[in-house]
Amino acid sequence: AFTAEPFVPEGGDLEALRRAASGCRGCPLHRDATQTVFGAGDVDARVMLVGEQPGDQEDRQGKPFVGPAGKLLDRALAEAGIDPGEAYVTNAVKHFKFTRAEPRKRRIHKAPSLREMTACGPWLAAELALVEPELIVVLGATAGKALLGSSFRVTRVRGTVLEEEIHGRPERLVPTVHPSAVLRADDREGAYQGLVADLEVGARLLP
Ligand code: URA
Ligand code: SF4
Repeated sequence: AFTAEPFVPEGGDLEALRRAASGCRGCPLHRDATQTVFGAGDVDARVMLVGEQPGDQEDRQGKPFVGPAGKLLDRALAEAGIDPGEAYVTNAVKHFKFTRAEPRKRRIHKAPSLREMTACGPWLAAELALVEPELIVVLGATAGKALLGSSFRVTRVRGTVLEEEIHGRPERLVPTVHPSAVLRADDREGAYQGLVADLEVGARLLP
């Protein structure tokens, strides 16, 4: 089976994890992507935001949520009363998965498979063990399935507080939609306000 497990160092800090992840070959996604996009933020962060996978901009720059979805997310966080600079931001899958309609054409995002999410899980588990966030904000269906299993339905649980055991640790989670889904929505303003309202549920858990 594909797995990042043999690449994850024992007992290192976030910097050691990031260095090791840059050489991960735990699944085939490392082949076509530019680089590993590891999580970013402080080890003392109280909130961990988990997205799907890096997008085109993230793949080029090597940092999570620096493209259009990230800009929207930062704005929504600030509006909900969560300082984006004080959150740890990461993804369920650390390499960009894409197709091209034609060679040399624009790269089109592809959803990661369950096998790829499972393969990459040890990195997320290691980040959770080090950061020990008070709150995990689950951004969309892929992050939800990676953390809570394949029966996760974002429409059913968004904006609610879940208490679940994740990788052997009790965690508190608030799921919401993915910021990219807000960018694609017909009613973009309504979708954005929905995202902010869900994030406010999370913000209220942080006194
Ligand atoms: N979408 C994600 O899920 N993660 C990113 O880092 C960027 C876009
Ligand atoms: Fe490793 Fe995850 Fe990249 Fe696959 S997607 S190669 S498991 S870091």
